[in-house]
Amino acid sequence: MKDAINIYVEQDGGERIELEAPLDMNLSVMEVLKANEFPVQAVCGGMAICATCHVEVLQSGELPDMSDDEAYMLETLPHATDTSRLSCQLRVTPELDGLVVRIMPEA
Ligand code: FES
Repeated sequence: MKDAINIYVEQDGGERIELEAPLDMNLSVMEVLKANEFPVQAVCGGMAICATCHVEVLQSGELPDMSDDEAYMLETLPHATDTSRLSCQLRVTPELDGLVVRIMPEA
């Protein structure tokens, strides 16, 4: 059993930065991005009410279902795409290994 997974952040030029996300700390993807000094404001601290942790999911395994709160917030965002998520609502679990995201302008 692995104790960490890899998450990738795609840059504007297509380059992907690999991050290691520990599985034993109950972190969200937002927290992993912040810990690695990506410009994610996460103003609400993970309550799904600010949308400043918006990411577009470019590649993933099975993602957790979206809550009504998350879906509602994403509907209000001008840059949201069909694969947008709030990174604070994505827990780091083994299913997320290999996740590729792009940080969106609102973040
Ligand atoms: S940190 Fe506010 S919605 Fe994710």
